[in-house]
Amino acid sequence: MSYLKNKVAVITGGSSGIGLAIAQRYVAEGAFVYITGRRQAELDKAVALIGSNANAVQGDVSKLEDLDRLYAQVKKEKGRVDVLVANSGIVDPKTIDDSDEAHYDKTFDINTKGLYFTVQKALPLMGRGGSIVLVASVASTKAIPGYGTYSATKAAIRSFSRTWTLELKERGIRVNTLSPGPIDTPIMDSQATTKEGADQIRASFAAVIPLGRMGRSEEVAAAALFLGSEESSFIAGIDLAVDGGMAQV
Ligand SMILES: NC(=O)c1ccc[n+]([C@@H]2O[C@H](COP(=O)([O-])OP(=O)(O)OC[C@H]3O[C@@H](n4cnc5c(N)ncnc54)[C@H](OP(=O)(O)O)[C@@H]3O)[C@@H](O)[C@H]2O)c1
Repeated sequence: MSYLKNKVAVITGGSSGIGLAIAQRYVAEGAFVYITGRRQAELDKAVALIGSNANAVQGDVSKLEDLDRLYAQVKKEKGRVDVLVANSGIVDPKTIDDSDEAHYDKTFDINTKGLYFTVQKALPLMGRGGSIVLVASVASTKAIPGYGTYSATKAAIRSFSRTWTLELKERGIRVNTLSPGPIDTPIMDSQATTKEGADQIRASFAAVIPLGRMGRSEEVAAAALFLGSEESSFIAGIDLAVDGGMAQV
């Protein structure tokens, strides 16, 4: 079944991990996808992996001129956006004692400001039946030492989905949040300086997940397909956790 036949989707951070898995699944379901990210080499690899019906537009979501360039290209080539997955994000673990202004600004600039303007600037290209999926995290409802700024950026995203559900209802655009639990992607490696350190992080997360393991990007992509497609046509403003039960029990 092609749940996204002829749909145009924009997936920020589609060059790696969860975003890449969503891009692959969306194309398999009939969509044309635009993926973004800062590293051109990763984008090129991702486009090759996806194989067809994918374009990459290099850019940083925290830079508004990059978002303008992205949507100008989408408008020129396709004229519209049917599904937007605002997925780009970073983790830079620091406790309040270790943190500084640069850390705070970078985390909020990418995770929160970047997502806010990713959505705002997509709206002129979106119409009735449009679906916006905001990738947050179960961290938004959990206390995890070192994740203070990260968790707060994700809590802001969950809040946006409430407000935007009402602000966009007359335009027929649905907004939902998707909150992964620990998923085995390169973001885990980005939090450690050695492979052993990254393995430790993975093990400590797996230990607190009721299903006893980390999640896979494909499992998040399945939920992103549901929220992005008409299969979720009466679902708006929710926070769908894909977390092996981590924040649920
Ligand atoms: N993996 C998990 O356990 C987990 C759990 C909960 C939530 N999440 C969320 O899921 C999303 C995807 O994470 P992931 O695990 O798939 O991580 P990942 O493999 O590191 O992928 C992150 C993606 O975001 C892009 N990105 C980062 N900063 C960007 C920026 N400033 N502008 C544009 N693109 C940017 C990256 O490309 P470049 O680096 O080239 O820019 C990459 O494509 C994030 O929002 C993350 O917070 C992940």
